[in-house]
Amino acid sequence: AAPAALPRDLTGVRVVISAGGTREALDPVRYLGNRSSGKQGYAMARVAAQRGAEVTLVAAHTVALPQPAGVDVQHVSSASELSAAVHAAASAADVVVMAAAVADFRPARRADHKIKKSDDQPDPAVELVRNPDILAELVTARRDGQVIVGFAAETGDESGGVLEHARAKLKRKGCDLLVVNAVGEGRAFEVEDNAGWLLAAPERGGAERQIPLGSKSQLASAVWDAVTELIAP
Ligand code: CTP
Ligand code: CA
Repeated sequence: AAPAALPRDLTGVRVVISAGGTREALDPVRYLGNRSSGKQGYAMARVAAQRGAEVTLVAAHTVALPQPAGVDVQHVSSASELSAAVHAAASAADVVVMAAAVADFRPARRADHKIKKSDDQPDPAVELVRNPDILAELVTARRDGQVIVGFAAETGDESGGVLEHARAKLKRKGCDLLVVNAVGEGRAFEVEDNAGWLLAAPERGGAERQIPLGSKSQLASAVWDAVTELIAP
């Protein structure tokens, strides 16, 4: 079906969006990965393009998704490849959206050959090292006026609810907007509908909007509405 008439309020705005889940190689055939489908990042890209933006989508592994019309898609695998592609595109972008699930850790070593099991050798242990925080790096390198959007999936735990965790993450990351998906009970990962919160940094007005349960396109529209308020002259 033809897309509903959307405002062309992102015309001329250059945006970079990361999507999907990174894979960190253990050897030539194995990796550590995660269950991100990439659908939310793709919805962000599709809606931005429909609203007139010039969109670069840096896609790590996703489920099979249609190529969004008019979007420059760059495929990457690991966190370090995603980092290089996002940083390169971000230097000329007005808005950067980190919707990808970036691996927090990678194997300290990638074996050159397939790891073999052996009855004479002890079973291997995987040592992990921390990956750089791309969102935090983007905030440090931010251009004047650039809007940076982070995503977080949170469950509540004994130290606080979803919103408390989200407020703390927004502060820690230093981004302008944080989109928070409430997860747990089968929500958000590998499902079609998202619900959560859209938090603005204190310097960006500090609004805390609840996002009602709806489609990933509806969530994307709500995020772009908030972004347009920040980039409006
Ligand atoms: N992110 C990133 N680089 C990383 C890890 C995360 O850019 N190495 C980005 C994600 O793309 C997302 C945001 O940071 O936009 C929040 O990711 P999340 O995993 O929720 O945050 P972490 O700081 O990794 O915290 P946690 O320990 O809860 O995983
Ligand atoms: Ca993380």
